Amino acid sequence: MTDWTKGAGWINGEIVPINEAKIGVTDWGLTHSDITYDVAPLWKGALFRLDDYLTRFEQSMAALHMDVGMDRDAIKDALISTIRQTGFQDAYVSMVASRGSPMIPGSRDPRDCANHFYGWVVPYVYVIPKEKAAKGATMWVSETARRIPVDSVNPRAKNYHWGDFTQALFEAKGRGFDTGCVLDHDDNMTEGPGFNVFIIKDGKAITSDHGVLHGISRRTVLEICKEMGIETETRPLPLKEFMEADEVFLSTSGGGVTPIRRVKDRTFSNDAPGQVTMQLYERFHEWLMRDDLRTPV
Ligand SMILES: Cc1ncc(COP(=O)(O)O)c(C=O)c1O
Repeated sequence: MTDWTKGAGWINGEIVPINEAKIGVTDWGLTHSDITYDVAPLWKGALFRLDDYLTRFEQSMAALHMDVGMDRDAIKDALISTIRQTGFQDAYVSMVASRGSPMIPGSRDPRDCANHFYGWVVPYVYVIPKEKAAKGATMWVSETARRIPVDSVNPRAKNYHWGDFTQALFEAKGRGFDTGCVLDHDDNMTEGPGFNVFIIKDGKAITSDHGVLHGISRRTVLEICKEMGIETETRPLPLKEFMEADEVFLSTSGGGVTPIRRVKDRTFSNDAPGQVTMQLYERFHEWLMRDDLRTPV
């Protein structure tokens, strides 16, 4: 019997077990990182904010001049049938558009490539393991890698250019930290592998606006702040100001609001998740169950 317990992939209209989901070695998605993707969370049997993730995915494809020949409904159908095949209730649901391989062998012209869509679904992924996040996680700020400049790779088109994050993760893990993040070339906090970064200072929630992916969870947090009467600022966030925050947390589709209790040698909110952070965490979980934001599978 086919084993779907590890996940499933949708490739060329076929749904296959995740370890049989493969792309070709000449695909520019692989050879040039010429690829874009998005990840929507499946939470307790429904996709959260699916249309917002699809809108961002469509914008990313347009920014990269990609046409995968599938409209929104076709992509939705592909994702939903793949999820149904797994039977998962909570999952990481990935949609990918790759440049593909040149239709004229040897061509170096990106317009000659056959763009294509594929999707894959695996059990829900937490950017920081749940047990660690519950106590507050620790984060390293890279001292060697800077976020790739926005005029080289646009961070708002979700991408696989993770050289900076991978370097930050090696630094972080080597020093015993749970995760790492990177600054821009002007010493402003940007983001990390799979998350946006927020601080709470004097009751205000502050997060970077420039040089980061506009995360759907980031947007959810900003909307929740509005609902709760918490003032927000989206603007460059200098490292110095960041290190003087009252509270720090991450926003991500892989775990929602994720409290941080330590960044490098600085301890925040008494070495535990912050009070405002926990209010946002609770409210985020309520929003995950809001019928108007859920697409049942
Ligand atoms: C670089 C980067 N920043 C931020 C995020 C958070 O975005 P979202 O809240 O849409 O998951 C992600 C998510 O994968 C990411 O890869």
